[in-house]
Amino acid sequence: MKLKIIVGTASDNALYAAQAIQTALAGELNAIDVVLANAHTTGEILEVGADEVVLVCTSTHGNGDVPENLLPLYADLDAHPRYLGALRYGVIALGDSFYGETFAAGGKLFDARLQDLGAQRMGDLFTIDASEMPDAEPEAVQWAQVWVAQWLKPGGDR
Ligand SMILES: Cc1cc2nc3c(=O)[nH]c(=O)nc-3n(C[C@H](O)[C@H](O)[C@H](O)COP(=O)(O)O)c2cc1C
Repeated sequence: MKLKIIVGTASDNALYAAQAIQTALAGELNAIDVVLANAHTTGEILEVGADEVVLVCTSTHGNGDVPENLLPLYADLDAHPRYLGALRYGVIALGDSFYGETFAAGGKLFDARLQDLGAQRMGDLFTIDASEMPDAEPEAVQWAQVWVAQWLKPGGDR
């Protein structure tokens, strides 16, 4: 099984979390790619094979928005909707409860868009609160280890 981690970030916390997962889980999976979304990222990135799972690891910026680097992909999925029924994915949503009701909204918005397109989320969306946990990496790794073990186990969620 392979994992593609798509990163949305403004100041690299989400990127470091993704890279920590890549390192920690290297022995568990055949390949782990970390992809920093950019202006040219389109929905094509979500066309993965049956042996691949996607993890969206994104922070929240502005007023409960998807970070700027992930916005082109988010917008493309709206402008050019595609059926994503074969996509299995997870979400790590970084945020800060200091921002109140927009807490972790970037990841939640992205999750909702994938759900609208028929994609199948494996497990619950995982939030990391910068007010409680300034260092997101160990949190992300701990969650990802359990999450991956869940869908790798025989008869697991895959
Ligand atoms: C200008 C700005 C706006 C933010 N807005 C929100 C927000 O609306 N909701 C939230 O949960 N976190 C918000 N955050 C907190 C970030 O999501 C959080 O610090 C996160 O760890 C940043 O990760 P990154 O370095 O990967 O971008 C904001 C941070 C900044 C600097």
